[in-house]
Amino acid sequence: MIQLDDKNTYKDYLINKYENNRNCASLVEDVLKNTSQYELYVRNQLTNFQNWSLDYDIERKTGKLHLNDSTLAFSKILDTASYSDSRMVIEAPFLKKNLSLNKSSKVYDVCLGTGATTIGLKRLGINHIISNDIDDEMIKIAKKHALEEDVSLIIDKYDWREMGDTSMGNADAILCLGNSLTYIMRPHEHERIINLFYGMLNEGGKLAIDIRNYTELLRGNFQNKGTGPYKEMESISIDPILVHTDMAVLRYGLKDGSVEKTDLLLYPFKDGEIECWMRNSGFKDIKIYGDYKEKFDSKTVDFYTIIGTKT
Ligand SMILES: C[S@@+](CC[C@H](N)C(=O)[O-])C[C@H]1O[C@@H](n2cnc3c(N)ncnc32)[C@H](O)[C@@H]1O
Repeated sequence: MIQLDDKNTYKDYLINKYENNRNCASLVEDVLKNTSQYELYVRNQLTNFQNWSLDYDIERKTGKLHLNDSTLAFSKILDTASYSDSRMVIEAPFLKKNLSLNKSSKVYDVCLGTGATTIGLKRLGINHIISNDIDDEMIKIAKKHALEEDVSLIIDKYDWREMGDTSMGNADAILCLGNSLTYIMRPHEHERIINLFYGMLNEGGKLAIDIRNYTELLRGNFQNKGTGPYKEMESISIDPILVHTDMAVLRYGLKDGSVEKTDLLLYPFKDGEIECWMRNSGFKDIKIYGDYKEKFDSKTVDFYTIIGTKT
């Protein structure tokens, strides 16, 4: 799912750690050989956060995590959690209304996942949609759903960090939903991505981003009641494994145990962080909804949806 971008940092960390060991080089090679790509990525991330390396025993913590290079298990969990009629009948009208979409609107769904948002909007007659995702397993499931629904998909496969000329040209709306931006761990990259999205919109175009209620997660009050956009929560389990101001690891599983549990490494956004990047990029009229409501109790909402307009 996430490409290992900086293996050397982890290697350096190991070398420092084992510097007094005479066989250091071969020990390091051994550790790297027996470690999955995703696990390496996680360890690398952990060593990049100073506080983590001080507060946590990285070897012990990562040894306990369910790290998986393949996204097959997670794509099945996500599909169960987020592809449903109950989601689509609420989400699509909410987006249509609050993003002022009509039949000729050009929409760019930057994280297709297993297809709920794109397909839900197509069911409402909003057909001019290009969808994007980097994950082949997710795309495969989305294509299957599209076939069942008799709708067609146009799919790009950009990493948001490298989005250039998309198949669409400028859009009237960009959607980054399903708690997706949180996959990017570094705040300067959030800022850059939001800037890129701003550049891809027409004047008057709108960007919608949603995130979990990380403020409450950071307070030790994780909630997943299904009051938000994602309705099928009774069949999946989500357990916080590690919670830190710079990083959270959530363990996802299916309650029937039919797929292996998967740990996701996520960035816990702070209050106002996304609005701040959006404002810096030039977005105006920024609105925040809690579980799709304009008035909400921030202690109890599952999800926030943030919408800004390019003016
Ligand atoms: C939690 S899923 C949400 C999918 C969908 N939007 C939904 O609500 O069901 C996040 C999606 O973002 C995709 N993704 C993560 N990082 C990405 C990146 N850097 N560029 C493009 N897609 C990415 C993942 O492959 C995954 O399908």
